[in-house]
Amino acid sequence: MLETVVKRDRDFGTPASTSTETVRITIDGTECEVAIGTSVMRAAAEAGINIPKLCASDNLEAFGSCRLCLVQIEGRRGYPASCTTPVEAGMVIQTETPKLHDLRRNVMELYISDHPLDCLTCPANGDCELQDMAGVVGLRNVRYGYDGANHLDDATDASNPYFDYDPSKCIVCSRCVRACDEVQGTFALTVDGRGFESRITAGQNNSFLESDCVSCGACVQACPTSSLTEKTVIMMGQAEHSVITTCAYCGVGCAFKAEMKGEQVVRMVPWKDGQANRGHSCVKGRFAWGYATHQDRMLKPMIRSNIADPWQEVSWDEAINYAASELKRIQGQYGRDSIGGITSSRCTNEETYLVQKLVRAAFGTNNVDTCARVCHSPTGYGLKTTLGESAGTQTFDSVMHTDVVIVMGANPSAAHPVFASRLKRRLRQGAKLIVIDPRAIELVEAPHVKADFHLPVRPGTNTALLTAMAHVIATEGLINDAFVAERCETKAFDEWRNFVSQPQNSPEAMQEITGVSASDLRGAARLFATGGNGSIYYGLGVTEHSQGSTTVMAIANLAMATGNLGREGVGVNPLRGQNNVQGSCDMGSFPHELPGYRHVSDDAVRHQFEQDWGVTIQAEPGLRLPNMFDAALSGSFKGLYCQGEDIVQSDPNTQHVTAALASMECIIVQDIFLNETAKYAHVFLPGSSFLEKDGTFTNAERRISRVRKVMKPQAGFSDWEVTCLLSNALGYAMNYRHPSEIMDEIARLTPTFSGVSFKKIDELGGSVQWPCNDAAPNGTPIMHVDEFVRGQGRFMITQYVPSDERSTRKYPLLLTTGRILSQYNVGAQTRRTPNVMWHDADRLEIHPHDAEDRGIQSGDWVAIQSRAGETTLRADVTERVQPGVIYTTFHFPESGANVVTTDNSDWATDCPEYKVTAVQARRVTQPSEWQTNWSRFNDVQQTLLANRSRETPEEPA
Ligand code: SF4
Ligand code: SF4
Ligand code: SF4
Ligand code: FES
Repeated sequence: MLETVVKRDRDFGTPASTSTETVRITIDGTECEVAIGTSVMRAAAEAGINIPKLCASDNLEAFGSCRLCLVQIEGRRGYPASCTTPVEAGMVIQTETPKLHDLRRNVMELYISDHPLDCLTCPANGDCELQDMAGVVGLRNVRYGYDGANHLDDATDASNPYFDYDPSKCIVCSRCVRACDEVQGTFALTVDGRGFESRITAGQNNSFLESDCVSCGACVQACPTSSLTEKTVIMMGQAEHSVITTCAYCGVGCAFKAEMKGEQVVRMVPWKDGQANRGHSCVKGRFAWGYATHQDRMLKPMIRSNIADPWQEVSWDEAINYAASELKRIQGQYGRDSIGGITSSRCTNEETYLVQKLVRAAFGTNNVDTCARVCHSPTGYGLKTTLGESAGTQTFDSVMHTDVVIVMGANPSAAHPVFASRLKRRLRQGAKLIVIDPRAIELVEAPHVKADFHLPVRPGTNTALLTAMAHVIATEGLINDAFVAERCETKAFDEWRNFVSQPQNSPEAMQEITGVSASDLRGAARLFATGGNGSIYYGLGVTEHSQGSTTVMAIANLAMATGNLGREGVGVNPLRGQNNVQGSCDMGSFPHELPGYRHVSDDAVRHQFEQDWGVTIQAEPGLRLPNMFDAALSGSFKGLYCQGEDIVQSDPNTQHVTAALASMECIIVQDIFLNETAKYAHVFLPGSSFLEKDGTFTNAERRISRVRKVMKPQAGFSDWEVTCLLSNALGYAMNYRHPSEIMDEIARLTPTFSGVSFKKIDELGGSVQWPCNDAAPNGTPIMHVDEFVRGQGRFMITQYVPSDERSTRKYPLLLTTGRILSQYNVGAQTRRTPNVMWHDADRLEIHPHDAEDRGIQSGDWVAIQSRAGETTLRADVTERVQPGVIYTTFHFPESGANVVTTDNSDWATDCPEYKVTAVQARRVTQPSEWQTNWSRFNDVQQTLLANRSRETPEEPA
């Protein structure tokens, strides 16, 4: 069902009406019932009658410019455009009459008279609405020649790395402009000039690359001609077949149609029926997939006994047997718990599940952890404690029903762009916005969007700020008493109300700490509590703090106190960073939890897994990631299997991490590139990209979506197969024939997943939100509807405790980190795509006052030094950051942002405090000592790779 020949998705011409009231009309003699507000064009399409159209599309408001969709309506003069005419009770409509045929042919004739007739050599040949419409209206000849004024020689703008704009093919239907405005919300395009002169321009006659365009691709998708066309289509031609799959970048989890020629991707088109993205995309998922076949891909297994030795390419058998024998040797020598594994939030649920099973069943230890440790582990802890489930409460669609939104410690325009577009659309409809962030993120003031409040909180004081908001709500009589009385634990609530009501928690008392004006904070609290449906979306700016878990609980408190849980338009919504962070947590990647967030010390749960797996599982939690590093340095942890995760670049205090890895005896890295961690590895197992495997990802909405293989694994095996090989070599049999069998096992052992299967996901149109079980056979879009998962909601006391990372005389600035749109996480994928044209290095944002104090100008090299280390970056002097705060991204290994971050961490989960590091900054002219050493080590490792022995025996079967 989901693998098809390539064809355009059905387009109903105008958006569906949301009205529940209907009227009866007659179209071409057939009576039908239609929702009020539906256009005549859509009503006809719903009745199976396709009225010719060019400027209309069902993801855009009707515009009525092309005049191709004319109809006749009894009792009306003239020929109204069906796309802009709403149905009325009793309307009698004709869509096909000789007069209409004539009119439409004339319209098409005019279009074609200013359009090159090069269909056979045009890249859109076979996928062009103009061509289709010429056929539909029966255009046979064009009476006007090309002698008069025309646009046929207009020059192509090829500046964007992913698509061309050829104005000679443009029919000025303005679909691209409207897609950019309405769908994407960037407003980068305009129609310049009038009448014949009118042309589409990006900004003030800029090239696309110089303009505000963020390369989401919505205009390209909207264009009915080849005026806006993907470069890959121009190069490769039209695809032959398509497969529906899920983006492997961020936690939005957009569904895409991978359009293929054999095993080559021609383009990725956001899938209209995708329930997370509703046909939209961002530059990463839409265009930045070339890394999957990049020349840097590592395709041969390699081993070496020492990281100073050259690599040796070996057969899969040899690599797996060597890895297994090393792990056994280490366990024999240092004990069972001297090894562990890291699961990947980029891999599928099935792969993640297998890695934790490998660790628990084949290694015999609970020493398994995941990168969620360093991002959203406080979400798991905080939401489980207060609401009873470690996950977000809503669908992304829910935001279209919200009235007031808090975005806290998240920058959706950069990190969750498709969600940002949806949010902006709701804001343009009138919803209110409160941004809580040390930086003025794009949402604070975007085209046609302006935050009602921006609370520029001082890094490290989130808990104080939210407690002060709660103070306003509690002391000004704004609590939703009925909700609290019915849904929450009374004693905990009373204690919480007494706590937050104390004068020391007032906005006035807290403003010295948070840096946020008391009146703004009071205004924001009142708006949230009284503005209608209130929703909270948050990110790593909440979790990656010493009080990350406390802040998550403060968010849940706020939602409960205002009754904003359990229905559309409200809720607590962690925006997950990587594509499968939610899934990797669900699958039992934490050392204390089996799949489904059940503690390993729970005898009944453990016995269930023991029976199924035929092994004994330890009842004590294993080591967390930071504990593994500490244990490595103290000599008790010696072996690590690390799948799809670059802990050297992504974890804090890089020098501590690399010292730990350098002290270990066997590190097995499974990845698609030789990443920073692999430079410390003894065994390298080639990984597979998301295009090379079957499975599922779970997005931030708890939506489990299918990932489908579109090409053979480049190195011979999908990641799940490699884990099975390693397990078998260790003597613990794993003989799955397909990832669907792994999902069947997950469902068998995990109550919240008991109804999930690949078949079920297909039946439900490509995805399902957990819990999916007997109680919710079709999944659970919104959680905690009638009661909380834990029964009654539990308010928690959120006492503010200052971080140890405070500005001092020695380190007077606070460094905080984040992402940029075009790059993703450690950058291993996006750095290997043309996305580097927008961002080719990490920059240090610094406020003009702080820059001036230090004699720093934009472009200067600046050293930032913390108690953990020092690195240098180029400065970007900007008022986006407040005085006293500096900011950078961490996408490039040579910038070493995490050399500076410390091992301070969340009190409950050990999630590192990336968002607050006390630093000093000064202008310099040379790289830091760490950077010099990194560069040297990198050269050595690249040489050892280049000099690897290549006498690899046979390829895998
Ligand atoms: S690619 Fe996206 S942002 Fe750029 S012009 Fe097109 S719709 Fe606008
Ligand atoms: S570029 Fe394409 S979508 Fe935009 S106005 Fe021209 S034909 Fe229409
Ligand atoms: S928003 Fe996220 S999931 Fe969607 S295309 Fe972009 S990176 Fe992929
Ligand atoms: S489709 Fe209706 S006027 Fe263009």
